[in-house]
Amino acid sequence: MKKVKDYYYKKAKKEKYPARSVYKLEEIQQKYRILKPGDRVLDLGCLPGSWTLFAARTIGAKGLVVGIDLHRGKNLYVTGAAEIRQHHADIFSEDALDAIRQDCPGFNVVLSDLAPNTTGYKLADHLRSVELSKRALEFAESLLFEGGTFYCKVFQGEDFPPFVNQVRRCFKTTKVVKPKSSRSESREVFVLGLKFKKVVKTGL
Ligand SMILES: C[S@@+](CC[C@H](N)C(=O)[O-])C[C@H]1O[C@@H](n2cnc3c(N)ncnc32)[C@H](O)[C@@H]1O
Repeated sequence: MKKVKDYYYKKAKKEKYPARSVYKLEEIQQKYRILKPGDRVLDLGCLPGSWTLFAARTIGAKGLVVGIDLHRGKNLYVTGAAEIRQHHADIFSEDALDAIRQDCPGFNVVLSDLAPNTTGYKLADHLRSVELSKRALEFAESLLFEGGTFYCKVFQGEDFPPFVNQVRRCFKTTKVVKPKSSRSESREVFVLGLKFKKVVKTGL
C-alpha cells in the first residue's frame, strides 16, 4: 500500500502537481476523454489545485477553468494553457452559484473533488460527503450544457445508492468508478455522469 502512495506522490512532485489526487482525474480522462480542447470546466473543491492545473493543460488555451473552494489558495496559472479563475466561497452559501453563473453562464464539465474534514466517524463523514455531492449535482444541473459531463467524488455508505440514482436521472449514462490511484482502503469512489439531459424550466 505504502508503495502505491509513494509512487503517486513522487509522480505528482515530478510532474509539478500539488497533490497526488490529479491521477484520479487523469485516469478517467485517459479512459473517457471527458475534457476536450476549448471546454469550459467548473472545478468544485479545487484546492490545492491539481485538478484545475490538469484540466487547464488538457483543454488548452481556448478553454476556461473556474474553480471554487472554501479556502483561499495561491493564484494558479499555466503558460499556454486555459485561463483559470478562482472563487473563494462555501458552495452552500446562497451567493456561490450566482457568482459562478455570473462569471461563466455554462460549462461542458463539472468536476467535484469536494471532501469534508474527516472526523474518523465513518457514518458522519459519509453523510457530509453525500451532502457535498448533492450540492455539486445542483451546480451541475444549473450550469451544465446539454450533453455535459459530471465527475464527482463520494464516500460510500447507506446514502450512496440514492445519490447515484439521482445522478442517473440527470445523465444518459452513469458509472461508478474507483481509479487505481484511489487508496483501496478509502471509501471514496467517483460517480461519472455522461451526456447531461438538460431540463428547460418553463417557470410554470
Ligand atoms: C480533496 S480536496 C480537493 C483536491 C483538488 N481536487 C486537487 O486536485 O488539488 C477537497 C477540497 O474541498 C474543499 N471543500 C470542502 N467543503 C467545501 C465547501 N463547502 N465549499 C467549498 N469547498 C469545499 C476543501 O477546502 C478542499 O480544498
